[in-house]
Amino acid sequence: MSPLYRVLPFHTLSFPRKRESILSLLLVLLTAGCEYWNEDHVFGPDHSTTRPTVLYRRDIQPIFDAQCILCHGKQGRFKRGGLDVTSYDVLMAGGDSGTVVVPGDAASSLIVKRIRGVIPPQMPRGGLPLSDDEITRIMTWVDEGALNN
Ligand code: HEC
Repeated sequence: MSPLYRVLPFHTLSFPRKRESILSLLLVLLTAGCEYWNEDHVFGPDHSTTRPTVLYRRDIQPIFDAQCILCHGKQGRFKRGGLDVTSYDVLMAGGDSGTVVVPGDAASSLIVKRIRGVIPPQMPRGGLPLSDDEITRIMTWVDEGALNN
């Protein structure tokens, strides 16, 4: 063993090796990052863990505002069937029959049965039924947990 080795501090000698391992660590992180990016973009998000696709404020309340509030709560008037749909909180409070939204279970939700006409009369009462897209949107929102989002 050379005398030089003994006088120099250990870290000076091992420096190149250390730098090498830092570089390979960076490479591993970079590769992992790329893989993550690819999976997410090629296969789309994993629906078991991702965010809801339908948002109450953006996608659901506007349907109620346009099609339902005339009879269900506009300016505190006409709470037909005891139901007000002017906000998330009053909607979730339900009507004369009780709860109209069962979070996570659109098929069991009274509001869905009424807009599909499964339980007559179909809502909006006396008007044109909601479009398939609107009904699907409401059902998806309920199935995704009926969040105040
Ligand atoms: C023209 C008036 C009118 C419109 C518009 C209307 N409804 Fe109704 N709705 C009623 C009446 C009246 C009742 C109570 C009698 C009944 O249950 O049919 C009712 C009852 C309900 C009930 C049952 C409440 C309970 O607790 O028993 C639900 C759910 C409902 N409506 C949802 C809706 C939705 C959602 C819309 C919009 C897509 C809507 N309604 C539009 C008149 C209306």
